Parts: sequence; structure tokens; C-alpha cells
Amino acid sequence: MSDKTKRAVFVTRFGAIAASVGSAVGLGNIWRFPFEAGEHGGGAFMLCYIGFILVVGLPVILSEFILGRASRSNAMGAYARFGRSRSWRGVGLLGIIASLMILSFYSVVAGWTLEYTVQSALGAVADANRDAHHARFMAFSTHPWRPVLWAALFLLTNHLVVSRGVTRGIERAANIMMPLLFGLLVAFCIHSLMLPGAAQGLTFLFKPDFGSINSRVLVGALGQAFFSLSLGLGCMLTYASYFSSSTRLTRTAVTIAGLDTLVAILSGVLIFPAVFTYGMNPEAGPALVFEVLPAVFGRMPGGAIWSFLFFLLLLLASLSSTISMSEISIAYFTDGRRMTRRTATRLSTAIALVCGSLCALSFGPLRDVTICGQTVFGLFDYCSNNILLPVGGMLCSIFVGWHLDRTVVTAQLSGNQRTVHILTFCLRYVCPTAIAVVMLDALGIL
Ligand code: TRP
Repeated sequence: MSDKTKRAVFVTRFGAIAASVGSAVGLGNIWRFPFEAGEHGGGAFMLCYIGFILVVGLPVILSEFILGRASRSNAMGAYARFGRSRSWRGVGLLGIIASLMILSFYSVVAGWTLEYTVQSALGAVADANRDAHHARFMAFSTHPWRPVLWAALFLLTNHLVVSRGVTRGIERAANIMMPLLFGLLVAFCIHSLMLPGAAQGLTFLFKPDFGSINSRVLVGALGQAFFSLSLGLGCMLTYASYFSSSTRLTRTAVTIAGLDTLVAILSGVLIFPAVFTYGMNPEAGPALVFEVLPAVFGRMPGGAIWSFLFFLLLLLASLSSTISMSEISIAYFTDGRRMTRRTATRLSTAIALVCGSLCALSFGPLRDVTICGQTVFGLFDYCSNNILLPVGGMLCSIFVGWHLDRTVVTAQLSGNQRTVHILTFCLRYVCPTAIAVVMLDALGIL
């Protein structure tokens, strides 16, 4: 483990929150949440999502915070420090491997975003026709090398930030990117709310339709809550190991969960009024951002600028998330393997480049290379989201709920007994049960 006195810290409270919110706010909020909510019962889905954030998300985020700050170590080191059996280290290792998998496929989508940002700036994404955008997206994503190039460029940008270290790289980037992201989001929402289709869009997004809530939707809402809060892989654990000892963990967790949910909802407010105003189909699923929205911008006055700003927003959100994913393995390589930060960053980027290229190509030339019936992209996505993330989250809550000394928990929560009791109850009983039910359901066992 590294010398504790030399371990990096986020120097300001704002920086710590900006970096953590940056991790949480990503493609999960801006790309996925709106179409999930729109398709699965609007306000009803949102209530389930918020419920999961409160009873599962908040306790698990707090458990990661406690482990991270108490150990001042990486995901694996934290379990090694407090685990009475060596096998607990496996939980940390699982998170480190999963984080590299997520980084790989996430960079592909972020690479598409980067391409769209640049193309929008060049005024090339201004067609009003959805079919044209569909053809364009298919041609791009199946191209033999372009998606690889853009994913690589994105990873390189990510590399430049993380290689500068926790304070000068991650914190400084977050301090600039997060206010910009919120500014853009608010400007977009004001614009959207002034469009003639605003009421229709908001009704689509918020109107609760409890009839469309079934177990699949609940599974989706819990998975979304986990992914969106960056839980289960030791991401928040690693960031918390850089929090100063005076950071209030409960308050920080509530702030992050609140801002993350706010961004998800605002993304829906940004998207649906525009989609209705310009007569597009809101139920487009994953194609919403890369096919429907460009057509919406194509019909909007000043659309080229809005299109550029939108993809820039998505890019900022993606970058601040991949930074946090990289940091999980980098912290492990530097603390646990005693590498210099430079070597650690290079190794992490190199792994992501190789695996990310395979993911990028799995829409085109490697489309027929399948493992268990899935392409590389599909496999990485499926394994990490449906298996590794929930398993990691469940084991973390069991570890902190049952295994970790209460005095450690109490000290990290500044002696607040009421919070310790509620948290322990949730971590012991509520979280593992909820996660197990949802996982078994997702795997088709229940
Ligand atoms: N929370 C991010 C999003 O919503 C993704 C993310 C970043 C993540 N770091 C993570 C997901 C760690 C799981 C684990 O897009």
C-alpha cells in the first residue's frame, strides 16, 4: 500500500463533489434514462427509480465511501485491509476487471459521441430526415476503422486527464467540466420548455402509467440506479479514498445521488419536448440520441449549434465518467502493484484500447465473432451490467453491513448513531435481498 501521508486528496469540497458527480453523470443519465423512462411508464418508472436510489443506491454508495475513506486504499486494498479472510480481495479484483470492461465498451459509445460532436461542429449533422440519420449511423458504426479511431481518440483524451494525477488531472478537469455541463443542461432545458410541444413532451415523460410496471421494468430501474451511481465496482470507493477526513460522507452521498437524479430527469426534459415539437417518434429506444435527436436538430432553427452543444454535453458527461472508471485500475496498479502513476495509466489505457477496439469492431467486421451468442460489445455490456455490477454491490453491502467493525463505520459517519443503525439495517437486509431478487430475475431464474 502506498505511503498514506503521500496519498493524493481532492483539495476542495467542491472538487470532491464535482469529481464524484462527474463519475455518476454519464451516458447512463443522458442517453439511457430518458428512453427507459419514456418507454416504461414515465412517472411510474421514475418513482421506482427514485425509490431504488433511496433504499439501495444511497446505502451502497455510503458503504463504498466508508470502505474507501477508512482504508485510504484502492478497491482491492480496501477489502484486504479490513477483510478477515483473503477471499474478500476477490471482490475488489472483480471490480477492477469489470471497470476495465466497462471502460472498453463505454469508450466506443463515447467515441461515437466524439465523432458526432466534431461532425456537428462542421455542420454535417443537419439533415432533417430520420432515415438519413439511421443510414448514416449504421454506415459509421459498422465502418471497418472509423469507430476504432474515434474510440482511440477519446481514450487518449481520457489518458491525458488521468495521467496528470488526482488533484491536477481529475479534480481540475471536474472543476471545469461540471459547471459547464450543468450550464449547458439548464440552457437546453429552458430552450426546450419554450417549444410548442413542451407540454406534450413533459406529459410523455412524467405521466405515471402504473400499468406498464412489471418485473422487467423494475429490474431495469434497479440496474439503471446502480449504473448511474457508478456503484458496485469500487469506483466511489476509490474516489472516497481521496476525500479529506473532514468530508461529511452522508451529506456528500445525498448530494451526489440528488444531482445524478436531477440530471437524468433534466435530460428527459431536454429531449422530449423537442422530439414532440418536431414530430418525431419518442419511442425510439437506444437510437434516440444518435438517430432521432440529430433529425430533431435538423428541423430546429439554429439546429447545427444545438446539435454541437448537445453532443458536447454528452461528451463532457462521458469523459468525466471514464476518468473515474480508469482511476479504479490505476489506483490498484499504483497502490497494490507499486507502479508509477505514469506506467499505471499507460497500462490501463492500453488494455482499454485493445478491448475497446474489439468492442468497436463488433458492430462491423467482427459482427460474426460471438461468444455465448453475443458480440464482444454485447458480452462486455451484459457481463458487467447484469452480473458483475450487482454482485459487486451486493458483496460490498454484505461486507460493510456484516463484516466491517462497527467502530469503523461509526467513525466514518462522524459518530451519528441513527445513520449507523439505518445504514446497517439496509446493508444487511434490504440491499442484498433487493439485488438478489433483481439479479435472479434478470438471469431468468426467478
Ligand atoms: N455512472 C456512469 C453513467 O451513468 C457510468 C459509470 C462511471 C460507472 N463509473 C462507473 C458505472 C463505475 C459503473 C461503475 O454513465
